[in-house]
Amino acid sequence: TTVEWEAESYDMGGHDTYMHKEIHEQVDAVDRVLRGRIDDRFATVRLGGLNLDAREARGVRRVKILGCGSAYHTGLIGAQLIEELARIPADAEPASEFRYRNPVVDPDTLYIAVSQSGETYDTLAAVQELKRKGARVLGVVNVVGSAIARETDGGVYVHAGPEVCVVSTKCFTNTAVAFALLALHLGRIRDLSVADGKRIIAGLRRLPEQIAEVLRGEEEIKRLAAEYANAKSMMFIGRVRGYPVAREASLKLKEVSYVHAEAYPASELKHGPLALIEPEVPTVAVLPDDDLLEKNRATLEEIKARSGRILAVAHQEQEKADHTIVVPRNEPELDPILMGVPLQLLAYHTALALGRDIDKPRNLAKSVTVE
Ligand code: G6P
Repeated sequence: TTVEWEAESYDMGGHDTYMHKEIHEQVDAVDRVLRGRIDDRFATVRLGGLNLDAREARGVRRVKILGCGSAYHTGLIGAQLIEELARIPADAEPASEFRYRNPVVDPDTLYIAVSQSGETYDTLAAVQELKRKGARVLGVVNVVGSAIARETDGGVYVHAGPEVCVVSTKCFTNTAVAFALLALHLGRIRDLSVADGKRIIAGLRRLPEQIAEVLRGEEEIKRLAAEYANAKSMMFIGRVRGYPVAREASLKLKEVSYVHAEAYPASELKHGPLALIEPEVPTVAVLPDDDLLEKNRATLEEIKARSGRILAVAHQEQEKADHTIVVPRNEPELDPILMGVPLQLLAYHTALALGRDIDKPRNLAKSVTVE
C-alpha cells in the first residue's frame, strides 16, 4: 500500500511547532485512515494487508497487543475496542515487559505489535520472540516498510503521515482509529450485528468533523492550560473507556511540559492516591457519558471534599468540576478517540506556557532503537 504524504510535508505550514501542526493535521489524517476501507454493503471494513482470512479470524481466542509509550496506550484502547465489538478477550502490555518475562505463547492468540516508527527495539524484539515461538503477529504501524512492518505477518497501516514531533499526537489518534477498524472487521466476522456495524461506521465518519470542532475550542483550552500550568502535579483519572485516555494524557503532559502527572483508574483513587489531593494537585477527569458517569460523579465529589480542583472532559458541563471541556458526542465505543484530542492541546499549551522545547523534549527521542 502506498500513501500520499505530499500534502503533509515536513514544512511547518505556518505553525510554530510540529506538535501544533500535527495536532491540527488530525482532521485529515483520520479521514485518510478510513479512506477506501469502508464496506457499506456488509457494514464492515476491508483491510487489504491483514493477511488473516475469515476462517483464521474466527479461530482467534485471545488478542494480545504490544507496544511502548503512546503506542502501548493505543493498544489499551485497541484491546477495549476488540473486546467490545468482537467479544474476543484482549489486553495490552508494554512490549519490553512482555519480551523479558519468557511469555507463554499460545497458538490461538493473535498478537499485535503497535508502533509509529516501526523501529522501536523493544517492540521489534517482542515480535521476533513471538515469531521464534511460532505465533501469528500482526502490525499496526505508521511507517510503511519499517522493520516491524516487515517482520509481522500482516497488519493495518495507520496512514498518519510523517510525525516529526517527539511526542505522538496524530499517530496516536490514527492508531486508535485503525484499531476501531480492526475491531469492527473482527466483530462483523463474529457476532456484531449489521445495525451495530453501521452505527460504528457512521461514528467513524463523523470523527474528522468532530475533531475539527474540538480544535476550534483551542483558545479556551489555552486559557485553562495557563490556569493549571503552575500545578505541583496533576492527577488523571477515568473508568474503563476513560482510563486509557487518562493514561495517555498524563504521559503527554509529562513528556512535553515536565509537569509531574499520574494516571489512575477513578475507582482506585480511594485506595491510595486520594492522599495526594490538595489544591496544588488538580485532577483531570475523563468522563464519557456512559453508564459509569454516576460513579465518576461520585469520585468528583470525593475530590472536591479534599479541596481538589477538577478539570473535566465530558459531553456536557459537569457541575462538580471547576471547568469542563465539552467534547461532541459520538458512539460510546469511539469516545476514547475523540476525548484524547483536547488533552493533547492541554499538554501543548501547558508546555508553551512553561516555555518548554516542545518538539524536542529533554531526555527523549522520537524512536528508541536501542535496548
Ligand atoms: C519513544 C517516544 C514515544 C513513543 C515510543 C514508541 O519513547 O518518545 O513518544 O510513543 O517511543 O514509539 P513507536 O515508534 O514504537 O510508536
